[in-house]
Amino acid sequence: MNKNDNHIYVIFGASGDLTKRKLVPAIYSLFVQNLLPTNFVLLGVSRTEFSDDEFRTSMKSTIKEYKEIDDDSKIDEFIQKISYTSISFDETSTYKKLNEKIVELRKNNHIDGNTIFYLSTPPSLYGVIPQHLASVGLNKQNDGWKRLIIEKPFGYDLDSAIKLKDQLLKDWKEGQIFRIDHYLGKETVQNLLVTRFSNGIFEPLWNRNYIHHVEITSAESIGVEKRGGYYESSGALRDMVQNHLLQIVGLTSMESPSSLEPIAIRNEILKVFQSLRPIKKEDVKNYTIRGQYISSQIKGEIVRGYRDEEGVNPESLTETYAALKFYIDNWRWGGVPFYIRTGKKLPTRVTEIVIHFKPTPHFLFAKNEMHNSCNQLIIRIQPDEGILLKVGMKTPGSGFEVQNVNMDFHYSDLSNQRIPSAYERLLYDTMKGDSTLFARTEEVLEAWKFLSPVIECWKNDKDVPLYGYPAGTWGPENADDLIENKIMTWRYPCKNLSDDGVYCEL
Ligand code: BG6
Repeated sequence: MNKNDNHIYVIFGASGDLTKRKLVPAIYSLFVQNLLPTNFVLLGVSRTEFSDDEFRTSMKSTIKEYKEIDDDSKIDEFIQKISYTSISFDETSTYKKLNEKIVELRKNNHIDGNTIFYLSTPPSLYGVIPQHLASVGLNKQNDGWKRLIIEKPFGYDLDSAIKLKDQLLKDWKEGQIFRIDHYLGKETVQNLLVTRFSNGIFEPLWNRNYIHHVEITSAESIGVEKRGGYYESSGALRDMVQNHLLQIVGLTSMESPSSLEPIAIRNEILKVFQSLRPIKKEDVKNYTIRGQYISSQIKGEIVRGYRDEEGVNPESLTETYAALKFYIDNWRWGGVPFYIRTGKKLPTRVTEIVIHFKPTPHFLFAKNEMHNSCNQLIIRIQPDEGILLKVGMKTPGSGFEVQNVNMDFHYSDLSNQRIPSAYERLLYDTMKGDSTLFARTEEVLEAWKFLSPVIECWKNDKDVPLYGYPAGTWGPENADDLIENKIMTWRYPCKNLSDDGVYCEL
């Protein structure tokens, strides 16, 4: 990796959780690896009053607590690069003060105009802050580049996303805006591109002729923790499906890009999103399942239900689990069902893509296996990143008993090199101005468009049930009903790729 231009990295929402858990530890890690420019300032901005020293002390303990890299030796040197200013986000006058602070920091640290503004704030401020920044000229690039990094969710639905887009594009150019989806920063998500397009053997099979269906799971064992307030207005569909899961669908199903240029990759993902078959309102109840975790007992301990979580309405109808079936109407995928699901308080944390290949046209060996294929390709995004191919082999002994065996590869076997976290990778890309792994406006809007009927029905249609599922289980049992012909169920993965098939421990 190369060093980037001298710049100031401004984080709005500096006293928030994301800044503490992910952003500052990731920037420190870049510093330790000598990847920050010589002249660099990290400016924290939020409503809370802190002196520079108070903020530095708090960041020091944050870096230790949410360790990104195993080296504490440079923390004291690093925190000298940190500064802080408080702001009232919707008052123009305080942006003048912010501008003066930035000018002073530039002067004292010999940095020209290069500035990154990372919005790690409530989404309601995504339109407000950029507008105010522009009002004091902090969007102008005559003295150096200016970049705006926006966390998800980009909008709340299609209308609000269009409104936000229009609002931003009044003052900022598309090329200045980086919409972060941290799943794209995961090493194994990027490895999907390499697996698919550097191996000639997969491409001929990667289509409707050989693939029966595709299954994507992103399960979390944690609940909403302290984010009940945010989650209430979001739910699993907006929090995970609209962004992370659909981006994985895009990378799994897109055509080969003409190059690795950001525009080439994003064009192909966009084409997939444009080919998603709309789910008709009357089909929503047959194509989607939603659930909410309820209290249960795990290993003798009572686990709270979602409605008892901090900041959550005791009568909340917000989904903590979502499963969808859909089709991609293009030549490659016509007729192949895609099943995606995500949920909180499931038995384990795992994200994986399962390509289910079609069975052989005539199964010679065991009649009861006739409908099921022996072949699945499992791409594990996290944890225990890797790839597993299931093939049928003869069981030793007389007769022709077939047994499914696993051929697996663990990413950790590739090298001892440390895998950077998704945020570390993406923050570094923002410093270099590389937008390959960021979502472009049209993609975001297409994703909202696709989910609009689901959002609407889940809000208004009483016929679409919200199933309670006990915390620690794999979500509503009815999710199995989504699978066509019920010839199989979802895969129930455990934590460890090699121990595949073993029901995981809670
Ligand atoms: C975030 C969601 O974008 O992704 C969280 O807001 C979720 O609710 C998180 O927990 C999952 O990320 P990861 O990297 O832990 O899979």
